[in-house]
Amino acid sequence: MKILFLDQSGKLGGAELFLLDLATAYRDRSLVGLFADGSFHTALQQRAIPVQVLAQQNLAIRKESGLWQSLRQLGQVLPLIQQVSQISRNYDAIYANTQKAFVVGAIASLLSRRLLIYHLHDILSTDHFSPTNLRLAVTLANRLATLVICNSQATLEAFVAAGGNPQLAHVVYNGFALENYADLPSNRETLRQQLGLTNDWEQNASTCFVVGHFSRLSPWKGQHILIEALTHCPDNVVALLVGDTLFGETAYVEQLHQQIEQLGLQRRVKFLGFRQDVAPLMAACDLVAHTSTAPEPFGRVIVEAMLCGTPVVAAQAGGAMELVEPDVTGWLVPPGQPMKLAESINICYHQPDVAGAIAQRAKQFAQAQFNWATIQQQIDRLLKKALFCTLDNG
Ligand code: UDP
Ligand code: GLC
Repeated sequence: MKILFLDQSGKLGGAELFLLDLATAYRDRSLVGLFADGSFHTALQQRAIPVQVLAQQNLAIRKESGLWQSLRQLGQVLPLIQQVSQISRNYDAIYANTQKAFVVGAIASLLSRRLLIYHLHDILSTDHFSPTNLRLAVTLANRLATLVICNSQATLEAFVAAGGNPQLAHVVYNGFALENYADLPSNRETLRQQLGLTNDWEQNASTCFVVGHFSRLSPWKGQHILIEALTHCPDNVVALLVGDTLFGETAYVEQLHQQIEQLGLQRRVKFLGFRQDVAPLMAACDLVAHTSTAPEPFGRVIVEAMLCGTPVVAAQAGGAMELVEPDVTGWLVPPGQPMKLAESINICYHQPDVAGAIAQRAKQFAQAQFNWATIQQQIDRLLKKALFCTLDNG
């Protein structure tokens, strides 16, 4: 099957990292069309995946746009729709990986009469989307998509609750190449020293307890909750914030720095920016914290921490609840509650044997459930079925 993948982002978020793996599997018969240039473009090129930047300017449609705004902005995207429709004639299917890509891809598929696949990486709720955009996505999906792949049961349920046709929707979790987690550096102390933890924090690398947070810097990812939680933990509990802003959330970054200063935590919080070497960094942490304040659709970082053998505490909502069995494969805490988060950090700090057993079980669970090879087969089967259904009907 020849596939035209579409993604609106030029940057590497979780949905793009997923697509990077999927497009690798289809690279001899696919093209990735991006609506913006950036590091995602480079990463695709590095893997020899055919890629084309279709729009040079970021599309202005925002998740929270109202009807009038969306219609006006639709005027700006007509040339893009035309371009996608033209290109898609050389492919069997349009596979939309993000929301704007789906709107453009859906209309283009109508013109080029190509199969439309919608990979839903978002929880379609008013936490993130305007009612107009929700209606638009669901209407286009119900009318034009042959298949809606949801990254969790929570995402599927939100799609159906927003009016999506349940018969179109299937859950496929993100998968991970297990070999990337096989030989992680075992000398944590060396890595911590390389990170400058000893010098900057004036702590002995082996005595500081490192809580890692791996995510773009964005209010709903809740880095501020972890910072606040530190004030309820012993002084040698420190936080590594790994990730950068993806959508210009500079006010939030400013707010984080102010919070750190007000709480006097300058020596206990370190920003590492966006890193490509997440796995060894996670392996060097004592705990990985996931703190999203809105339901997380899936939460790649949770599974990655498990695969690295590092215990994980996650916010109890959305897809995270499908990934973590409380007190068995990790800890779940109510979103937005620093005190509750601190309680779990403190359990992990004071009871390393319990934490170690949890991490070991989590690793086995993640290796069994989220192996990329299996996930890719699931997607391949769904795609083939969708293509054959369409051929049968057409
Ligand atoms: N990530 C990364 N470098 C960073 C921070 C994060 O490569 O500095 C990766 C992380 O390993 C994960 C992804 O970004 O694979 C984030 O995906 P997730 O599903 O957790 O959240 P999203 O940002 O997609 O909502
Ligand atoms: C999105 C979601 C995230 C999910 C990722 C991959 O970026 O926010 O929860 O893990 O897609 O499906």
